[in-house]
Amino acid sequence: MAPKVLVSDKLSETAVQIFRDRGVEVDYLPDLGKDKDKLLDVIGQYDGLAIRSATKVSDKVLAAATRLRVIGRAGIGVDNVDIPAASKKGVIVMNTPFGNSVTTAEHAIAMMFAVARQLPEASVSTHDGKWEKNRFMGVELFNKTLGVIGAGNIGGIVCDRALGLHMKVVAYDPFLSDERAKAMGVTKVELDELLARSDFITLHVPLTDKTRNILSRENITKTKKGVRIINCARGGLVDEAALAEALKSGHVAGAAFDVFEVEPATDSPLFHLPNVVATPHLGAATTEAQENVALQVAEQMSDYLLTGA
Ligand code: MLT
Repeated sequence: MAPKVLVSDKLSETAVQIFRDRGVEVDYLPDLGKDKDKLLDVIGQYDGLAIRSATKVSDKVLAAATRLRVIGRAGIGVDNVDIPAASKKGVIVMNTPFGNSVTTAEHAIAMMFAVARQLPEASVSTHDGKWEKNRFMGVELFNKTLGVIGAGNIGGIVCDRALGLHMKVVAYDPFLSDERAKAMGVTKVELDELLARSDFITLHVPLTDKTRNILSRENITKTKKGVRIINCARGGLVDEAALAEALKSGHVAGAAFDVFEVEPATDSPLFHLPNVVATPHLGAATTEAQENVALQVAEQMSDYLLTGA
């Protein structure tokens, strides 16, 4: 009997085609992930579940998933899956760590430009017919110091692009070796040094017990006056209330956030502050990245379901 996969979030059609071509039966129900009860009703019919971020795979869902062997996350973060509950049941959880790295790194760079030149506010003002040429004075990125917290997959690409912009790059990452830092052309520093030296800070770490609140109230006070902070990684890495106060006091000059403590974010202490650029978790939202992650997740899940590899 062919294994059966449920795709419960919006995923490129490529994934569906790959499953079919590989001989895996597939139901594409992209809105199901948002309907917890419906998911609980049907999950027992499937050997595989392919998701993005909307489907929450709780212990309850896993308890109802009597046939489930694999969960495939088309993307990087698996924070929407109860990993201990999945492991306890022997359900494999796989992600696609490389499919959207370039896209997410490019979003971080775009956000850095946007906050340096107040592009969103200038655009709104121009659309309003105000032509406020003197209101929007920006700063250059050239020769500025970028502090990268987390220099792995995505952070490494951000370092590369920033060096291309002739920025000086300092990186804090306990897993970064001296040799790798040298090969990347970045200066490896401790967190306090990064906070003190950086004109821009960008975060590229997952949300774990170690990284939660890494930019805490105390750490925000250690940053250089006039710093601009970019978060395209995960909400919860930065104390949003403390950052909002630092923005209001003028200690922090700007912030560009794609991710928030609570998502979907309908409110945040950062909303409606001047020089805060906000986007709705668009880090992986390009045609190319969505094709990549859909293709990778479908290939990996098919391999596992058909051969156990
Ligand atoms: C990811 O973890 O891959 C990104 O945050 C993108 C997403 O969740 O859509």
